[in-house]
Amino acid sequence: MTALAVAQPAGAAKTADVAVRVHGLLRRFGERTVLDGLDLELRRSEFVILLGQSGCGKSTLLRLLGGLDVPDGGEVSVPRRRALVFQEPRLLPWQRVWRNVTIGIDARDPRQIALGVLDEVGLRDHAVAWPKTLSGGAAQRVARARALVAKPALVLLDEPFAALDAITRLRMHDLVRALRARHDATMLLVTHDVDEAIALGDRILVMRDGCIASSHDVDLDTHERFRGADRDRIRAALLHELGIGAIGSAPGLSTQRREQ
Ligand SMILES: Nc1ncnc2c1ncn2[C@@H]1O[C@H](COP(=O)(O)OP(=O)(O)O)[C@@H](O)[C@H]1O
Ligand SMILES: [Mg+2]
Repeated sequence: MTALAVAQPAGAAKTADVAVRVHGLLRRFGERTVLDGLDLELRRSEFVILLGQSGCGKSTLLRLLGGLDVPDGGEVSVPRRRALVFQEPRLLPWQRVWRNVTIGIDARDPRQIALGVLDEVGLRDHAVAWPKTLSGGAAQRVARARALVAKPALVLLDEPFAALDAITRLRMHDLVRALRARHDATMLLVTHDVDEAIALGDRILVMRDGCIASSHDVDLDTHERFRGADRDRIRAALLHELGIGAIGSAPGLSTQRREQ
């Protein structure tokens, strides 16, 4: 692990299975304290979902974990190899798909590497396409492929599916599950969608007032993630914490952003 700020927190377990350790994280923008002594531990290979109202600091936390920003205080230990996936695929329009996937990769045969990861996301046939010819879902798959190339130990996903239509979104969930089964990276995914959180995560965190307010284990099999009393209980608790119970209480209704 690479210490971005100070060393390990005093008294923290030096367990080999901890991939991310954050202690007392502070981030201020002017007068506003966005992260206020935030603590977080993610285990190796764990798939954790981060929920929280718009503007509560989720992206700020991911940017700090990804090394795109520096904290005003606290400690952050993260794996050296990490990748960020955003809502916009952020592809370079003047490079073909396979080039986009291997940007920044120092390898003898980058094209071969690109074809391998494009195959994993079902886009091998689009290797020489230009980004502007891709659908939204395909472009997001290219972004996933690019994240996989570096074989990251930590993948940070900031609302990666928010701009996709419902069907494409479900396909992306399948892709994420398939990639998860093959790679053992720790994943932290931000979403506004409670159903998406329950469908995908091992654990769901709710962020509030600059901290992680609660953590919910999702110990459900694939079927139970979509129906049943345990799923309904977790869903109701999350909706309550997010203050959107009344809007999202109808069965099958996806929980979306609450505008502030
Ligand atoms: N670079 C920045 N400069 C000033 N304020 C920022 C900056 N980045 C984020 N903020 C503010 O920090 C708060 C949290 O933002 P963000 O982490 O993007 O929230 P979320 O991702 O949970 O919606 C917001 O009030 C936002 O305006
Ligand atoms: Mg955000």
